[in-house]
Amino acid sequence: MLEDNVADAELIKFALREGGLLFSLARVDSKTAFLREVEQNTPDIILLDYSLPSFDGLSALHIAQKSFPNIPFIFVTGTLGEEVVIEMLKSGATDYVLKNRLSRLVPAVLRALGEKEAREERHHAEERLRKSHEQLRALSVYLQYVREDERIRISRQVHDELGQALTGLKLDLYWLATRLPKELKSIQKKAKTMSAHIDTTIQTVRRISTELRPGILDDLGLSAALEWQAQEFQKRTGIKCLVVTDVKQPIMDEELNTAFFRIFQETLTNVIRHAQATRVEVSLRKTGRSLQLQVQDNGRGILEHEMNDTKSIGLLGMRERAALLGGTLHLKGTPGGGTTVTVKIPIARPKEIEIAYHENTHRG
Ligand SMILES: Nc1ncnc2c1ncn2[C@@H]1O[C@H](COP(=O)(O)OP(=O)(O)OP(=O)(O)O)[C@@H](O)[C@H]1O
Ligand SMILES: [Mg+2]
Repeated sequence: MLEDNVADAELIKFALREGGLLFSLARVDSKTAFLREVEQNTPDIILLDYSLPSFDGLSALHIAQKSFPNIPFIFVTGTLGEEVVIEMLKSGATDYVLKNRLSRLVPAVLRALGEKEAREERHHAEERLRKSHEQLRALSVYLQYVREDERIRISRQVHDELGQALTGLKLDLYWLATRLPKELKSIQKKAKTMSAHIDTTIQTVRRISTELRPGILDDLGLSAALEWQAQEFQKRTGIKCLVVTDVKQPIMDEELNTAFFRIFQETLTNVIRHAQATRVEVSLRKTGRSLQLQVQDNGRGILEHEMNDTKSIGLLGMRERAALLGGTLHLKGTPGGGTTVTVKIPIARPKEIEIAYHENTHRG
């Protein structure tokens, strides 16, 4: 309580006690004492007189608010002009009570404390929400990383181990076939079909391995991988797919390449599933310090509500992938005029993003 009049202070205490409050109260009447009290004991509520000989309530309010924005301030004063009341409330005072109407004090105090508690509760709830959001984000990074890592591993194993086993089998079969008696025509023939069968199996193994993780992405870089994927897409769907790029030097950044490549695949899958397009134009460009991929189809055009639907997990995943590397994903749809997906990711990422990414992905 900032109050210079001892008798008034006693009356105020009396009113609080009469109102059934249990409290401890420190009365101060100078700036130094006020500051010391607020700093050391962080009160639940501050009662202020408006004018004191050496200090005034409004200055006290301004000072204390800086360090303790959440403490309620109630002015307890003699008669007040309207402008003063307005100034007080504008400055962030919670309430004011006239000294000749002290019956209003306890209700005012209780209301102020109730509001303070609600504010703190809301703040905690927001904090919990933010935390859980952060954890979900970290989890999603981790899952994406694990998935990619597993794909790379399985892809290599399938390619190397199955590939080698099949090649070995083929050589053995050849060895056997050359030693078969010429007159055993049907067995010779059987050996031939077996060999052909092994060849197609080798092709299948290569295809599965490439679908899991195209080696071209790691060997020749992003541009080559996008071109390869576009050709595959065109072959499979009959939808024309053109890639233009001004990125001639391969960028050997595995995370960046993976993000762009997986976003591209997801975009093409959406074209097949939703767009009813006949043509897709893809561009990969360097713009300043970022790499920008743009995929434009000539289909029905994505609708506003489809972009923002919380169930759009595919789009959400693409956005997350870009955001994880400090980038952005932008969608644009024109009814009947196609959809454009634009992804932009910085090539050299700030240290913090790099660190966050690695902390999230390289656990264990
Ligand atoms: N190229 C496109 N043209 C028109 N509509 C599209 C296009 N891409 C996406 N959409 C619309 O946006 C929606 C959300 O896409 P999103 O990829 O998030 O989900 P999805 O493809 O339906 O399912 P999944 O989660 O398996 O990817 C789609 O259901 C579709 O209605
Ligand atoms: Mg999709």
